[in-house]
Amino acid sequence: MTTKCPANLLLGVATSDYQIEGAWDEDGKGESNWDRWSHTAGHVKNGDTGDTACDHYHRYPDDIAIMRQLGLEAYRFGISWSRVFPEGGGRLNEKGLAFYERLVDALLEADIIPFPTLYHWTNPQALEEKGGWQNREMVERFAEYCSTVTHRLGDRVKSWLILNEPWVVMYQGYNEGLFPPGIKDPLTAIRVGHNLNLAQGLASKAIRSQRSDLKLGSAFDMAGVYPATQSEEDRKAAERMEGFKNYWFLDPILLGRYPKVFPIDVQSLVGTIDWKEVQANLDFIGINLYSRLVVAHDASVPWINVRTIEPKNTERTDSGWEIYPEAMRQVVLRTSVRYKLPIFITETGCACNDKPNKKGEVVDQKRVDFLRRYLREVALATNQGADIRGCFVWSLLDNFEWLEGYSLRFGLTYVDYTTQKRIIKESGRWFANLIRTRLL
Ligand code: GCO
Repeated sequence: MTTKCPANLLLGVATSDYQIEGAWDEDGKGESNWDRWSHTAGHVKNGDTGDTACDHYHRYPDDIAIMRQLGLEAYRFGISWSRVFPEGGGRLNEKGLAFYERLVDALLEADIIPFPTLYHWTNPQALEEKGGWQNREMVERFAEYCSTVTHRLGDRVKSWLILNEPWVVMYQGYNEGLFPPGIKDPLTAIRVGHNLNLAQGLASKAIRSQRSDLKLGSAFDMAGVYPATQSEEDRKAAERMEGFKNYWFLDPILLGRYPKVFPIDVQSLVGTIDWKEVQANLDFIGINLYSRLVVAHDASVPWINVRTIEPKNTERTDSGWEIYPEAMRQVVLRTSVRYKLPIFITETGCACNDKPNKKGEVVDQKRVDFLRRYLREVALATNQGADIRGCFVWSLLDNFEWLEGYSLRFGLTYVDYTTQKRIIKESGRWFANLIRTRLL
């Protein structure tokens, strides 16, 4: 069965600063929370760090050559806050900003649309040590950083992502303690979540005060949420989980309210909310979509009363994530109906145990199959009325996968980390063909 991918769907790839750049302390860059976290023993598998990663800071011309070879139309990348403001605010590091100007100019030269993420989890360590996102000062510094960068690059870059996956920052960093700063406190997590919503509100206003012609969004990690049974309580549990996972960072900035998920009012935890400050009026919504959640009512789970259930006899990626393409269409259609905004799929992809064969080729047929099935759901969602503007595959290169270090490979391009040699995988050639023919 062949499906046509919409001709006007922008097709590209996504990466992030800490995961590929390396040069962690070069040209005046300040230490970030992830520099400190990965340098601290026990946090990252095999003691891996982003110190060198894919050395994209130096090798970006070669990586852009790969993008041209694949015929990519756009490139989503992260900007390192502490490369631009080493202490988070105050002194601007011109060498740091100059790297992103070089990158943008080289992308435009290659006829590839730059699509930056202003924040992909890397806090300046100087601000982390003052409380990170617990601290309102971080929100103010973030708005200044965003307006500085978009003012400098906004003549060449017209679409911007403010945050990447605020839910992961809140939940992994402040509730589970697995990400920096390693806090495990639900109340703190909710307060941090509110500061991240405030950051979207203040940053979007600060950016627009400098340039009114830019298109703004954020990339939200979403999942298809399915009730374990059709019982009333499981269906209600699924609604609560969908509100918390998918809409916690959209309802406040677009609808002026938090989703009804907990028995308590968020204002009782964060104080009186000035909804005008939080309002962000995004031009589009970025959706990072990999899989789904199956959930059931469970009164023993504090606050949300929902537990997730691991489906049995299901397809999984090599990193164990359930493969469930239909979740893509469900999430896109529901998000479209709820907010009536254009959508970019800002991440989708899978980890495979890729290895070059004797001929030096990487034949990752499983990733080709994953991408074809997920992108078919994107095409179907478009046919059913969703206004999807683009789709970015995670990722251009194998890269630093946070707590998993370099043990998981998500790239359309294989990276040999000892030699920094790149090998375009079968999936990269497949994606290049899709861009040309639009046939899925
Ligand atoms: C995320 C992040 C990426 C990950 C990718 C694979 O969605 O978690 O945006 O940085 O590397 O999703 O896990």
